[in-house]
Amino acid sequence: MNGFQSKLVHGGEPEERVGGAIVPPIYQSATFEQVPGSGYHDGRYIRLSNTPSHDLLHDKLSLICGTEAALVASSGMAAITSTLLALLGSGDTVVAQDLLYGGTESFLASEVPRWGIEVQRIDACDVSSWGTPPPSARVLYCEAITNPTCRIGDLRALASWARDHGMISVIDATFATPALMRPVDLGFDLEVHSATKAMNGHGDIAAGVIAGRESLVHQVKHCLDHLGGHLDANACFLLHRGIRTLGLRVERQCQNAFAVASFLEGHPAVSVTHYPALESHPDHARCQEWFGGKGGGVLSFDVGAGVEEAERIATSMKLMATAPSLGGVETLIIRPASSSHAAVDPAVRLQMGVPDSLVRIACGVEDSDDLVADLARVMGNRG
Ligand SMILES: Cc1ncc(COP(=O)(O)O)c(C=O)c1O
Repeated sequence: MNGFQSKLVHGGEPEERVGGAIVPPIYQSATFEQVPGSGYHDGRYIRLSNTPSHDLLHDKLSLICGTEAALVASSGMAAITSTLLALLGSGDTVVAQDLLYGGTESFLASEVPRWGIEVQRIDACDVSSWGTPPPSARVLYCEAITNPTCRIGDLRALASWARDHGMISVIDATFATPALMRPVDLGFDLEVHSATKAMNGHGDIAAGVIAGRESLVHQVKHCLDHLGGHLDANACFLLHRGIRTLGLRVERQCQNAFAVASFLEGHPAVSVTHYPALESHPDHARCQEWFGGKGGGVLSFDVGAGVEEAERIATSMKLMATAPSLGGVETLIIRPASSSHAAVDPAVRLQMGVPDSLVRIACGVEDSDDLVADLARVMGNRG
């Protein structure tokens, strides 16, 4: 089984079907019989993420990510926070990209320093500005495609810079998904995902993923076990169902996002459109090289006419719902300043290129003509 789609559908599934069922069942059980003579850590218990539902997901995810191991968690933030807490300790430094999802940004700014961990920022897009990290640097943290300005850092260089300086490299690949890239091939030690987004893809659960080197995933699991951030049995079932169609959905979302971004780029009211598959985007070449020219399902734009007009656009669509999140089958529109980045200090938000007037669209799998028509109705045609 070599093909990506086949791995999504069949990967990790047990050879013997349970009761002949084509769809693996939900194991709605917190605890499992202990085999005589085995110890506590050999037993299956839901908080330890080792039920048959977890095993199935872990096997499938490591296959599709191309990693030694994988682990699911109760949300993207559970995956991110457990990873950072597992790898860092007092006196350490985490070197983080200066453009990050608002929740991660807020965690780094408000929680991490309380444990005596320093946070140092870098512009992941500009290798020449990195210099030498401090001797205390243990972890490099970045995003594959940043939320919401869709920047793509010099990812291969970041992974090797981290290796050269003894740092563990961690990438949040939520926006790219395993359908567009394999961080392990670029040299990353660990990848994390909000599987709440495209990985599950139906907007009905929260979930997270950690994948990468076995010893590191094991270290993160140890921390996750203590923090209690496991994925529940029903969410395991739904995540598995979603993953099976990841490739098809992401393909369609990329097509829709490209059509919508192209419409917006040519619109007289729009001052800037952020979408890496557009030739005008500063990281277009990296998108071509690493993501096969596909920019993912999310784009953002600024109408330049201020926050009131941005809010009017974001709340006047018929087909697109005004809501945070991304990666689902339905298209969502929102101002990041009022949602994903609301917890970030307004001055920092501006430095991150997220003015209050920025609007983000997370494309679903509808017809692109209908999405463009929705925008044209609210913003007028391109003229
Ligand atoms: C890039 C990215 N990483 C992580 C998260 C957090 O995921 P979750 O909401 O599943 O905790 C989000 C949420 O929007 C995100 O966009």
